[in-house]
Amino acid sequence: GGWAMAGGSLTPGQPGLLLRSRTALPRPYAVPLPLPPVLAPARSSGTTDVYEITQQTARLRILPGVKTTAWTYGGTFPGPTLVSRSGRRTVVRHRNELPHPTVVHLHGGHIPYGSDGYPTALILPRSGTASNPYGMAGMPDMSPEAGARDDVATERTYTYPMQQRAATLWYHDHRMGFTGPNVWHGLAGFHLVHDDEEEALPLPRGERDIPLMIADRAFAADGSFRYPALDPAQHTPGVTDPYMDGVLGDVLLVNGAPWPVLEPLRLRYRLRLLNASNARRYRLTLDPPPPGGGGLVQIGGDGGLLERPLAHDTLDIAPAERFDVIVDFSRYRPGTRVRLMNQLGSGSTAHVMCFDVSTARPPADDSRIPDRLSATAAPRPERAAATRTFHFQRRAGSTGWTINGRPYEPGRPLATVRLGTTELWRFVTDFHHPVHLHLNHFQVAARNGRAPGPYDAGWKDTVDLRPAESVEIVTRFTDYPGRFMLHCHNLEHEDMAMMADFVTE
Ligand code: C2O
Ligand code: CU
Repeated sequence: GGWAMAGGSLTPGQPGLLLRSRTALPRPYAVPLPLPPVLAPARSSGTTDVYEITQQTARLRILPGVKTTAWTYGGTFPGPTLVSRSGRRTVVRHRNELPHPTVVHLHGGHIPYGSDGYPTALILPRSGTASNPYGMAGMPDMSPEAGARDDVATERTYTYPMQQRAATLWYHDHRMGFTGPNVWHGLAGFHLVHDDEEEALPLPRGERDIPLMIADRAFAADGSFRYPALDPAQHTPGVTDPYMDGVLGDVLLVNGAPWPVLEPLRLRYRLRLLNASNARRYRLTLDPPPPGGGGLVQIGGDGGLLERPLAHDTLDIAPAERFDVIVDFSRYRPGTRVRLMNQLGSGSTAHVMCFDVSTARPPADDSRIPDRLSATAAPRPERAAATRTFHFQRRAGSTGWTINGRPYEPGRPLATVRLGTTELWRFVTDFHHPVHLHLNHFQVAARNGRAPGPYDAGWKDTVDLRPAESVEIVTRFTDYPGRFMLHCHNLEHEDMAMMADFVTE
């Protein structure tokens, strides 16, 4: 009881099963925006920075009056922010002190196979059990954790060469069949990459460069996270799971706090927006808009700076996408309350956070938005050595999702790609699917046979598809032979097998 089958009654464009919290919802705009801690390296050499993260349960205060048991990177949600320099190797040693296996993926990283977080490359818990206590009902458990023993590894070292441009990346769990619950319970954090090109620009920096992780959650009466797969009573074996379209919550968190408030000075701010939700899409807008509109000036996307800034009134952001925007709060009168709203939500989910524009007199703004941000050569569709089509579809007759008719099977690739070549991939869907490619960033060449959409600019690693859409992307495979993933980033779809391997050689 208590479940609202809201999939059909929400605003069109927001699929999923809405879980309602059984706690009183907190007052919006009552808590200050938290910033995740920045992790210092455990040690550094001339070429490399080494970080250490312990994955552990933590009792967090997210809602007033209750504590929430979270699965965390280092005890916080979001996890600590890692900051890398382009060209400097980043090594992250993860120790798993959670009671169940995990996998770490650096989303947006250009990473060799062995460190990419292949979904069965588990970091086993200290004491494994043959039966997975948190297994998702109805899902084949093909991970090798069955038979885990006390002497198996409880840590894993991931090496990221960081031969890539400045960008807002994020890291999160990627365990096969269990990514949804792991991320929902807190396993996500930012990983920022800086480079010389970006640092030469007069963009807002320091305290005016702010990562914003947006994620919806639902809470039980005792403050714990609600998630359907962990509640066996919610399952009827053999029956299509009601949450197959994705799990939605009624509490919107930004950097782990419900509907927080920031008090910006009347200056430009860089906001690094990340949708870390399992399934929820947002249409973000500033209310009120600044005079003249265009309040969200996009300067970057998943894969770093755009060539030129792009002003938006609204921003559609699907799970895993990032939009780097500049908001100029000097366009507002002192004391204005500017709300960041979600036009795809209703009631509590229509509100994200707010900015109470400071009445203090600001210093002169040292930042600008240059007309030219970056020059990178786009991959050319006509150079494509191969064209491939991937259909993202419901699995006929049962719970689950497929790519080209096949549910995910580790080790059975849908494509083999030659390194050194450019390819054009066409994604075709029957539903809402944010499609994510590992290894490479790509550019959108066409949407529905026409020009790319307003949110398709620049280098991306995740592209949002709506029902009956098709998108063509172009990417160049440069290096790293191995086995990588193409999948839907609706985490329930991903866990229900909407994932494929591709091989590079
Ligand atoms: Cu953000 Cu394969 O995932
Ligand atoms: Cu999907």
